Amino acid sequence: MSFSKLFEPIQIGSMEVKNRIAMAPMNMGYTDPLGYPGDQVLAHYAMRARGGFGLLITEAVIINPHAWYGGDAMNVSQLTDYRFYRFWSKVVETVHTYDKCKICIQLSPGWGRQGHPPVTSPHVYPAAPSAIPLHIDLRNLMSNKGWETQLKKRIDTSFAGGIDFTELIKMPDEMYFSDDVQLNLKKMVMGVSEELYHIIWREAPREITVEEIVEMEDRMAAQAEAAFQLGFDAVELHSPHGYLIHQFLSPMMNKRVDDYGGSVENRARILTNMIKKIRKRVGNDKPVLCRLSGADLQPGGATHEEMCQIAALCKDAGVNAINISQGSYQTSGSTFAYNGEGDFSKWAKGFKEATGLPTIAPNFVTPHAALKAITEDSVDIISLGRQSIADPFWPVKVKENRVKDIVKCTRCQQCYAHFIFNKWLHCAVNPTAGRERFFPDLWMKGSKLESRIAKFKEKAEDLPQI
Ligand SMILES: Cc1cc2nc3c(=O)[nH]c(=O)nc-3n(C[C@H](O)[C@H](O)[C@H](O)COP(=O)(O)O)c2cc1C
Ligand code: SF4
Repeated sequence: MSFSKLFEPIQIGSMEVKNRIAMAPMNMGYTDPLGYPGDQVLAHYAMRARGGFGLLITEAVIINPHAWYGGDAMNVSQLTDYRFYRFWSKVVETVHTYDKCKICIQLSPGWGRQGHPPVTSPHVYPAAPSAIPLHIDLRNLMSNKGWETQLKKRIDTSFAGGIDFTELIKMPDEMYFSDDVQLNLKKMVMGVSEELYHIIWREAPREITVEEIVEMEDRMAAQAEAAFQLGFDAVELHSPHGYLIHQFLSPMMNKRVDDYGGSVENRARILTNMIKKIRKRVGNDKPVLCRLSGADLQPGGATHEEMCQIAALCKDAGVNAINISQGSYQTSGSTFAYNGEGDFSKWAKGFKEATGLPTIAPNFVTPHAALKAITEDSVDIISLGRQSIADPFWPVKVKENRVKDIVKCTRCQQCYAHFIFNKWLHCAVNPTAGRERFFPDLWMKGSKLESRIAKFKEKAEDLPQI
């Protein structure tokens, strides 16, 4: 079978991407607690650049310097000011030593109601469009086989009056939401993982002020400009998955009665203002992407039709491509860890019809499903999330007709579970994942860096000690 279609170049604004294979944005938790991307972050991206990805989209990088951004428990990378620039510039420079590999930074103003008070300032509550707390239904998470296995492995149910996970999934609402079951669930999760506890019983956020919204719009534009100056080929606005920007877009999470709530235009205002302000600083040429959930996947949430209207507004404001996702934390079973492959492509047609822009969609394991998405589902670039953790060399293996050598992601969700249970992210099938910095031989091979170092070494290796 020929996969040559996956290797055709494509244009996003002024950027040419050498093939149709991107690495999906993923926060791996490798950043240090202050938000500086160190050598492991560099090696993680370099390995995927070496593996042949045409476009690397970074994890969500925070531009909000205030404690209320709400995500410090996840060791999120930051780009709030110039102290972070040199660290990102070395990542960009390294990625660019591989043949035409492009790198796009995903920028985020914060977690909103999906965040929680910072570890060091426990009284600072995250800010969101409206003070509506998040409550995640564990049954949704457990509808995903991988999650079910990971949680069963890590949580001792004997603390919880013997709640059985299998029974929990089947529980009707009146029983699941009863005080008794909720108290037992709290006992079960408490002390096992702070993140999981906060995910399920999130505190109410405070309402963000208009001054703070405008500040975020301005900061987003300033850091997008800085990112281009650092050499990033593109920037992406982090607007899916129920995080701060998405909370504005969704009628379920945004009940404001000012210019930032109500109509679709008003709900999209923070996002379209950010795009317009970026354009004002960087001009019309630089590629600006926007990641959007295809729909909220919940009653009362944004529908696909609304998301398409929002995508069209983004296009009018100056966006060059739509990176697709779906849902939010409340639909975690299908948002972050869909078991199968190809599920997210279903939104591509709608976005394409609404905007005419290139679309990017994740959720692939096999090149066969990837090819189908490109040829039949209006997806222009496929992206690999977990599959790029499992096998950084997926693109080159497909190009070299070595599909049988691909190490497949089993959808076991160990990577996510490590993240939530405060562990270093490792992969069940790729022992080099999370250890890339110890394997420069694997990722430096064939890069311009390798040949430059070889030339330098040649003239230094046989020097005597004096
Ligand atoms: C560990 C991990 C961290 C993630 N972090 C982000 C992120 O920072 N930004 C984002 O837009 N999506 C994030 N995602 C979602 C992925 O981009 C992707 O949409 C999801 O994993 C589904 O694609 P897949 O089936 O190819 O893994 C993350 C996913 C994983 C596995
Ligand atoms: S195989 Fe690796 S990348 Fe895939 S879900 Fe498991 S740990 Fe994550």
